[in-house]
Amino acid sequence: MKITVAETAGFCFGVNRAVNIVEDLIESGEKVATYGQIIHNDQMVEELKNKGVRTVTDINEVSVDENLVICSHGVPDEVFANCKEKGIKVLDATCPFVSKIHEIVRTAGKENKAVFIAGDKEHQEVIGIKGSTSSPVYIFSSEEELENILKNDEKLQNQPSVAVSQTTFNEKVWNNCKKIFKKLCTNTVIFDTICNATSVRQTEADKLSKESDIMIVVGGRHSSNTKKLYEVCKRNCDSTYLVETDKELSPRLFVGKTRAGVVAGASTPAYIIKEVLKTMSENLQSVEQEQETETVQKSYEEMTDEEALEASLSALSNDQKVVGVVLNVAPNEIQVDIGRGLAGYVTAEEYSSDANVDMTKEVKVGDKLNLLIMRTNDQEGTVMLSKRRFDAIAGWDNIVTAKNENTILTGVVKDVIKGGVVVYTEGVRVFIPASQATLYKSEPLDGLKGKEVKFRIIEIGRGRKAVGSIKSVLKEERKEAESKIWENIAEGDRFEGTVKSLTGYGAFVDIGGVDGMVHISELSWSRIKNPSEVVLVGDKIEVYVKAVDKEKKKISLGYKKPEENPWVIFSKNYSVGDTVKVTIVSMTAYGAFARIIPGIDGLIHISQIANKHVNKPQDELKIGQEVEVKITAVDEEKKRVSLSIRALLPEEEKVQEPVEETKAEETAEVVSEIPEEPVETVPEMPTEPVAETPAEETPAEETPAEETPAEETPAEEAKTEE
Ligand code: F3S
Repeated sequence: MKITVAETAGFCFGVNRAVNIVEDLIESGEKVATYGQIIHNDQMVEELKNKGVRTVTDINEVSVDENLVICSHGVPDEVFANCKEKGIKVLDATCPFVSKIHEIVRTAGKENKAVFIAGDKEHQEVIGIKGSTSSPVYIFSSEEELENILKNDEKLQNQPSVAVSQTTFNEKVWNNCKKIFKKLCTNTVIFDTICNATSVRQTEADKLSKESDIMIVVGGRHSSNTKKLYEVCKRNCDSTYLVETDKELSPRLFVGKTRAGVVAGASTPAYIIKEVLKTMSENLQSVEQEQETETVQKSYEEMTDEEALEASLSALSNDQKVVGVVLNVAPNEIQVDIGRGLAGYVTAEEYSSDANVDMTKEVKVGDKLNLLIMRTNDQEGTVMLSKRRFDAIAGWDNIVTAKNENTILTGVVKDVIKGGVVVYTEGVRVFIPASQATLYKSEPLDGLKGKEVKFRIIEIGRGRKAVGSIKSVLKEERKEAESKIWENIAEGDRFEGTVKSLTGYGAFVDIGGVDGMVHISELSWSRIKNPSEVVLVGDKIEVYVKAVDKEKKKISLGYKKPEENPWVIFSKNYSVGDTVKVTIVSMTAYGAFARIIPGIDGLIHISQIANKHVNKPQDELKIGQEVEVKITAVDEEKKRVSLSIRALLPEEEKVQEPVEETKAEETAEVVSEIPEEPVETVPEMPTEPVAETPAEETPAEETPAEETPAEETPAEEAKTEE
């Protein structure tokens, strides 16, 4: 708001002169009494009183050792005469402009001219003027009064007369009155006695009040010129206030105002004007803050929590924070009493950032809640309140403290958004970038929604924005868990682990702080070409520790279960001599391999395929064909099973094998006679990378192809799959 102070504000010449006379006397050590108030300003009078100046209204009150100062408004001539008679030392502080009027009317008296005085008949100046003439005096304060006087006594219209005005009379009214004199009177001499100081003041007040939406008129209520200024300003500006001191100002006067004007009466001391201006500035500041607050208040409902937080931290006043006592609870709304004669309501949305909150379970009648006023509707007598936003404001302090002290906070992931997740803690929104939301970069964020997470505040940005890190906490937790694992881990320990990554030679599994590797050969009893045939990243699997190297920080894990060992199953369920249905899975020059159960393939030697000579297995069999065979031999040590179709064929169908063929048959029944070399040449899986942790440091694509030998293993060479 702009404040404009009138250039003419403050003591006029006459007042200044009167005050100086008194102060000079005081400084000279003289005793002083003033006849009436030295000027029409109570504060100035009080100040002088404190300096020993007495105010008297009767010369009989004046003591012999006192100087009587006649005030600036003047007194009737008889006062001077009486003082002279009593020997009272008089100092005349009557304003020279007033004295001049006295002279005019005094002369009029000598010339037997009637005297018309425009002014307030009760005013000291008018009383003094009236008392300075021996002529009949007619006093009026308005055009109507003058007209009445002249019309009631028509002789006056032609009688020789003079017309003067109080020095502070309203210039406009005076001009109108002059017109009346000219119109009705034939022998009236008009003297323009309105003081120029008053005239200038009123002109300036008129102009300033037209440009302002609030006018402050500073001056005594008994001061005529001050009252005139008030009237002038009030005509142009409804919000015109007359104040004697700054104590009468109130911030509410300035609500909604943008341009303030200040004028002051001629008897207003400079220090009072200064105090008024100072208080006005403070009031305006307060109003502007309130207006800002109002703006905030009005728009709270439209604000996001962060905006509300930002706004509240800069402009929230105590008036907006209230304690509400719960009166009634419904699932979607609670009614509270905030002690202001308004019905207060908190909706579920404004109760909590949890969209699923059931308020009937959260609060009960009689509970006290800290709330923030969002909107007041005086007409309806309601006030809308928010607990969520209050909590957000209160929670912000915790956010700042948590950041400064690096403490861990807990919150619920409310949203997964582009670039990260949004967590709410104590009503405060915290953004957690994707890079800080999980321990590993590749981990998906969707699973976090709705979960309670621990995090740290890593940044507080402009606009009260908080950025957090879940990863920071997870890393720390992982480190602690890692230490515990290395301290206690032993071969045979079982863990529930999470598959973190896959390579061609195995799967890295997080066992709760440390990654171990399950070699591809340990993933399945069956032969597999890639770990992904058994497990996928993110799978929760049970593993056991096969080997630990604490020095090198390497853990080798096993996944396949001993009880699922095909040999164990086979031994339990099959014996030599049993007839079983098998499936041909591969063929070589010396026979065909047939699957008995998953993980156990037996060999049907070429001599055992039929009861006749067979040149090559493909002549009699094909891959995928189901045939009945007899288990003819089992070598558990070498994990070999020999099968025979021929053994099930009727004797009479058997044909005499050529001698050389018979030799083949004799050897073919013993699986061990199958050339050993193919079995022995099954290459060992590389074990070196098993204990390389963490998983993310061993990207699958970095694993050299030659270290993934599973594919190089010829199927036909793997007779049984141990
Ligand atoms: Fe004198 Fe004019 Fe002031 S009459 S007291 S100078 S207002």
